[in-house]
Amino acid sequence: MNFEVFDKKLKEIEADCEIVLIVNENLTHRWIEGGNEFEKYGFSGKSEESLFLPHKNILYYGCKTFESDEIRCSVSNAFKVLKKMKYNSVKIGLYTQKCPPINARALVEGIILGTYKFDKYKSKKSNLYIKNIKISTEDYNGKIYNLDSTKKAVNEAVIIADATNDAKDIINTTPFDMTPAKLADYAKDMAKDLKNVECFVGDEEFLNSENMGAFLAVARASSNKPRLIHLSYKPKNSTKRFVFVGKGLTYDSGGLSLKPSEYMVTMKSDKSGAAAAINIIKAASRLELPFEVHSIIGAAENMIGGNAYKPDDVLKARNKKTIEVRNTDAEGRLVLADCLDYAQELKPDYLVDLATLTGACVVALGEYTVGIMGNSSTLKHSMIQSSLKSGELSGSLPFNKYLKKLLKSDIADISNISSSRYGGAITAGIFLDNFIKDEYKDKWLHLDIAGPAYREKEWGYNQSGASGAGVRMCIYWLKDFVYKQSNVHDEDK
Ligand code: BES
Ligand code: ZN
Ligand code: ZN
Repeated sequence: MNFEVFDKKLKEIEADCEIVLIVNENLTHRWIEGGNEFEKYGFSGKSEESLFLPHKNILYYGCKTFESDEIRCSVSNAFKVLKKMKYNSVKIGLYTQKCPPINARALVEGIILGTYKFDKYKSKKSNLYIKNIKISTEDYNGKIYNLDSTKKAVNEAVIIADATNDAKDIINTTPFDMTPAKLADYAKDMAKDLKNVECFVGDEEFLNSENMGAFLAVARASSNKPRLIHLSYKPKNSTKRFVFVGKGLTYDSGGLSLKPSEYMVTMKSDKSGAAAAINIIKAASRLELPFEVHSIIGAAENMIGGNAYKPDDVLKARNKKTIEVRNTDAEGRLVLADCLDYAQELKPDYLVDLATLTGACVVALGEYTVGIMGNSSTLKHSMIQSSLKSGELSGSLPFNKYLKKLLKSDIADISNISSSRYGGAITAGIFLDNFIKDEYKDKWLHLDIAGPAYREKEWGYNQSGASGAGVRMCIYWLKDFVYKQSNVHDEDK
């Protein structure tokens, strides 16, 4: 798909068809051509209502407001209407008097995310006819907005949406085709094509030499051996260091605490944190962010077998803490414990882990919302703000001293599950907190993406399957650090 931006009036742009997003109260605006036909066809401009006029090659689509996420949803839906029509090019305006680059971003993200399709395993592949998207910087009052800042916004949106779609590809790929070793190869190949990016891969022997006893135990029963993947993006003159840690369970059967079969389906998605962390690196490099960004991925399979780790085992983590295993399905926190300890040796200014960690987080916040945990309210709040701008939903889940006590073990330093059935997302977050050193307590965030990472029904501009959860919110968050640093005017974000 090719995006072009024009500082010309829409009327002057040549295209096979046009999409017009309409907010109800703007129905009679002079800018909207064809207004006299709305009544005839019973179009009232309500949200999700559409009117296609074939003789004019125009599609009108009702949009609740011109807020970013409404634009993303509406333009994605508009493309669904045009899906089977043989138009090669489409033109669209920016519809705003306030901040055109923000709308341009939302349009481009909505189009790229909304038209994603995963057909790797389908014999028949169907392609979208529309190849060229022409964006005019004309606003509702006929004013032409600055070309350069809109072009920049479009380029950035393409990078961010592509990274999100690439994360979806990794997650949707079957466990057979995306084992820990194959995920590591994927990361290595990706690094070759990116500026200032390097990739280190450590195998089982490496994990042994690093004393990663918790990670190794989870991985032991699988014939697909584990990998630690370390991607680093190091631009010249970097001013900060960010480290992301991704849960990369290429399959989670539950281990000996085996999942019931209906809960096991979709567990190829337990690598969603890893897919996000990998693609955050891709976007950071393509956006040429002025920060060092690292991603540490713990890739393993949680399987059963004669040598599987067991409930009752006591493991020794990299930081020397001992862990009583009471449930082998609470494996993500074990892998992350060792990866987080390793990650802190990089001396990060900020440390963020992404993981499909608990079903309890889905119960707490619903399927659409990322759970944000950590010790610093300011840091949690900054991520929530950025996620809202990115179109991802997130909510803070608070730690407390009573929940902390529930991880006590009689036999080891800590238990891998809580003694209560309530508050499971938070107790998992608190478990991770036990592997964060004092100096990093306020620099760390834990993102539980178990809800939105994978859903077997489409929602908004997300298809059934993986959504690439975490990618957009983290990149918007990184970009917000750039703005804070350079005091860029809000309008040019
Ligand atoms: N990968 C799962 C969490 C999960 C559940 C992700 C549903 C996506 C959708 C995780 O490893 C797990 O099994 N967690 C257990 C923890 C429990 C044993 C304390 C859970 O949530 O049931
Ligand atoms: Zn599990
Ligand atoms: Zn898991």
